[in-house]
Parts: sequence; C-alpha cells; structure tokens
Amino acid sequence: MNTNTGSKPSLAYSSFRRLAVSLATALLLTGCTTDSPSMLDPQGPAATRIAELWWIIFGLATVIYIAVMAFLAIALFRRRRAQSEEQPLAQNGTRLIVLAGIVGPAIVLIVIFALSIRIMAALTIPANADAVTVRVTGHQWWWEVAYPDEAVLTANEIHIPVGQPVLVHLDAADVVHNFWIPELHGKMDMIPGQTNTFWIQADRAGEYRGECAEFCGTQHGKMAFIVVAEPAEQYATWLAQQRQPAPKPVIAQTQYGQQVFLGSACVYCHAVGGTNATGKVGPDLTHLASRLTLGAGTVENNLGNLGGWVVNPHYIKPGNLMPAVNMPGDDLQALLAYLQTLE
Ligand code: CUA
Repeated sequence: MNTNTGSKPSLAYSSFRRLAVSLATALLLTGCTTDSPSMLDPQGPAATRIAELWWIIFGLATVIYIAVMAFLAIALFRRRRAQSEEQPLAQNGTRLIVLAGIVGPAIVLIVIFALSIRIMAALTIPANADAVTVRVTGHQWWWEVAYPDEAVLTANEIHIPVGQPVLVHLDAADVVHNFWIPELHGKMDMIPGQTNTFWIQADRAGEYRGECAEFCGTQHGKMAFIVVAEPAEQYATWLAQQRQPAPKPVIAQTQYGQQVFLGSACVYCHAVGGTNATGKVGPDLTHLASRLTLGAGTVENNLGNLGGWVVNPHYIKPGNLMPAVNMPGDDLQALLAYLQTLE
C-alpha cells in the first residue's frame, strides 16, 4: 500500500497535542476547585468520599490515557522501521492485545466497580438515630422545606446544625426533580409518590448552594436553594423563630398592607401563619423576609426584587406559575412594606 510518509509526523504531532490539551484541562479543573459550588470542594463526609472516588477514577484514566498515547507513539515509529527494513510483523501482538485490551480494562473496571459499591454502601449507613429530620418536596420550580418534628415549614432554604447528620426525606409534588448540593452529597431523585431518603452533613458553617439536577420544565435552570449550616445555638434560635406565627403589623402602612394581601388573590396560593391566608400552591410566606433569596435562588431577597417579583414575576423567572399582580401604586407600597415585616 502506498503510504504518504509526509502525514506520519503530523499524526504523531496531533496525538501529542491532544495529550497536552488534556493535561492542561486537568490542571484547569484542579484550579476550579475553589469556585462554589463544586463537588471537588467537599464540605461534608459524604461529598468527601465521592470526591475521593472521583480523583481515583481521574488518576486511573490519566495513567491509562498516557499509556495508550505512549503505545501509539511506539507503534508509529516501529511501523516505519519495520517497513523500511522489510521485516515481518511481530508474532506476540495477540498476547499484547489480550493483556492490554481485555485483561487490563477488566481489572480497572472491577476495581472502580468495587470502590463505587463500597462508597455507596458507606453513604447509606444511618449515622445517628435521633438526627435532625427534614422533608423536602420538589415543585415546579421551588422547594418546600418542612421540619416535621418541629412544626416548621419554609421554602428554598434549609437550615442545618453544623457537624450533625441530617436525615433528608425527598419527594415531588408534580414531576421528577433532583436534589443536589455538590459540596455536601451526590444527587438524589425526587419522584412523585415515592420518598427517597439520604443523609447530609456539613463539617463547616456556611452557605451551600443546591440545584435541581433533573430537567423538570422551563424553569429547571432557576430552581436552586441554599443550605445554611450554622452552630447548634444559632440553628435552635432559627427554629424557634420559624415556629412563631407571622408578627402582627404595628404601623398604619403595614396594617393596610396586610389588608391588601388578605384581600387579594395572593391568599389562594400562599399561606401566612396566624392569618386567614392558607394557600398551599406556592411557598409559605410566614417568614418570607428572613430568607436570603426570592424565586428559588433566582434573585437576592431585597425590596427592589420583591417589588419586581410581585408586579412581574415572569420578567425574573419566565414561565413560573405565579401570575403578575396588578394594583394601585399605594397598595403595592403597603403590600411590600407588610411582606418585609414577615421576619
Ligand atoms: Cu426541578 Cu429541575
């Protein structure tokens, strides 16, 4: 066969270039571990074990890639010499193919499989019988968060005591969602009619962003939540505050704002503890002002964003299920002032 000798160096060159690009990508990946949230920046025991497994697989894959590229380089140079000297090809090629192409990959896959099973088993062991229990229900496109033992109901924010295992029950109200806090644990499906359970634990106090990791409709990309891991005392204070009904409005504007709220369509979807508003379609608003974000992690919770959200929620989060609210300016100001008292 007539081979174009000019193309051989370029093939070898492109192989080495690909190797260099892969190594550079690996270095970049390592550099990214400081960005939050990343599963390569574990902050709890489960995420640590998952990240360890990831690095083992990454290391094995790198070694194998370099070995394959080395064999390829050897083959390129050998073939040229064999042709020029017109020697027959080596007969022990079959043994090499069986060892490096079948036995080797089988051993690597068995090792990865065994490590995965071991870590999966370790992650399902209940760490503590009387741990904090949280029930999270996925909705299009927000998270209902209940503490069944504490009579606390909130949304899009999960407070946990730092250093303690937290049992999380997961289910869904409409379609399949997926609960993922990259720095604390792997992903877990939320399936309507089925409760999945797992354990999370944060070793350091802080805020950890969680995401929906299963496509669930137009606003899947804006279905986030925040896990706030705090010292036990601060967590107890938060629980005690969340258990309270909504504070009564004390000044004329906020009292009028409450009337506007209770007289509007808001009450068909939202509840405020201690009032006649008991809607269950959207997030409970009893302690709305205490939360960090609006629209399930979409925007920061401040007066400007709250006003924008009430007047035109579809500008901030197109396709979400809340209708825009039309009302006179004074009513809107009073309503916003009232909502901001819901600490
Ligand atoms: Cu919920 Cu994606």
